[in-house]
Amino acid sequence: MDPELLADLRTPLGADALAVAAEVADADPLVAATRLRARGVAPALAAAALTQADLRRRAAAKFGPDAAGMFLTRPGLEQATRAVVADRRAARLAAAGVRTLADLGCGLGSDALAAARAGIRVYAVDADPLTAAMARANADAAGLADRVTVECADATTVEVERFDAVFADPARRRAGGGRVFDPRSYSPPWDFVAGLAGRVPRTVLKLAPGIDHALLPPGAEGEWVSVDGDLLEAAFWCGPLAAAPRRATLLPGAAELTGTGTVTGPVGPVGTYLYDPDPAVVRSHLVAEFAETVGGRLADPDIAYVYTDAPVDTPFARRLAVTDVLPFSLKRLRTLLRERGVGRLEIRKRGSALEPEKLRRDLRLSGSRGASMVLTRVAGAPTVLLCRP
Ligand SMILES: C[S@@+](CC[C@H](N)C(=O)[O-])C[C@H]1O[C@@H](n2cnc3c(N)ncnc32)[C@H](O)[C@@H]1O
Repeated sequence: MDPELLADLRTPLGADALAVAAEVADADPLVAATRLRARGVAPALAAAALTQADLRRRAAAKFGPDAAGMFLTRPGLEQATRAVVADRRAARLAAAGVRTLADLGCGLGSDALAAARAGIRVYAVDADPLTAAMARANADAAGLADRVTVECADATTVEVERFDAVFADPARRRAGGGRVFDPRSYSPPWDFVAGLAGRVPRTVLKLAPGIDHALLPPGAEGEWVSVDGDLLEAAFWCGPLAAAPRRATLLPGAAELTGTGTVTGPVGPVGTYLYDPDPAVVRSHLVAEFAETVGGRLADPDIAYVYTDAPVDTPFARRLAVTDVLPFSLKRLRTLLRERGVGRLEIRKRGSALEPEKLRRDLRLSGSRGASMVLTRVAGAPTVLLCRP
């Protein structure tokens, strides 16, 4: 796909091709192409329409029904922020009084469109001509073109000081695939991205969730965001946008936990209930703060499992009822699970070097019951907890 083909897709013939492609997307590729060709659609346009139909179907998980009218590339879709995350960020920016925003490296425009939906005027740039053209088409399709200006430009050339706030979501992938974990390999470059807060106090950076806490600018808020238990991103909220040192945000329910990220929770014995915190809570270093919300304790100061003696409902963790606590012994475990008729075993681990799948094979499970097993350490000793969900 190139910008000319994108322009063709946006003509009446292109719109017709897209509509037909959406109808035949499930059909055999050859049959689908033949249907399009029979309507007088040229091969290149037919292929582009079929690719869009396929990408739009995949994009529904991120963008909901809006995906059906969007223009997408595979890498752009992979890197795009989910609408539920982008909308929440945009609402927070709008609530902080941001009226104009520069989006540096806007990709297909997920964050830019969310900001525009929240009433913010957005100036978005992307260095890639096709991606920038698609972001513009997506703003148009969403009826937000009056609030979103998209240009194909290098982010480092933007006069960011003209805007109330700046947002950057640098590319984190190498050309050959594979994620980039070293922030020095980000594009735009990390030095430029990290320097933005010095130029525009209200800066927000979207970063990989594995980002080192040490890279958080002084005084900034580090937020870790999960959706349905999947850890998706870290966001650094700088200057006056920072509201707490650390925040864990769990979507779609929007449960939020804040704290300093430096506290250690109380340590005590394993309890009747074990809580496995959401990865956003763990990555934001808010396990002690979470333990406080359920009146819980850790059984090992370095392991992020929390225990209580009475059940407490919480959005921040999965709760399991502990039925047995035993030191690790393959033979003993095999006997116990056989006695209980456990044939289905969910294995969780923290602080254990054991490989769950190898252990599952070695246990030679048989039976009809299900159970959960937690491999961990208690006061330094390898320990197995058998649990009921
Ligand atoms: C992670 S994506 C942004 C995704 C976007 N926030 C969304 O949700 O759709 C990063 C984008 O930055 C662009 N980019 C990389 N280096 C850039 C630069 N120096 N100037 C402008 N854009 C750049 C890439 O082309 C890519 O589209």
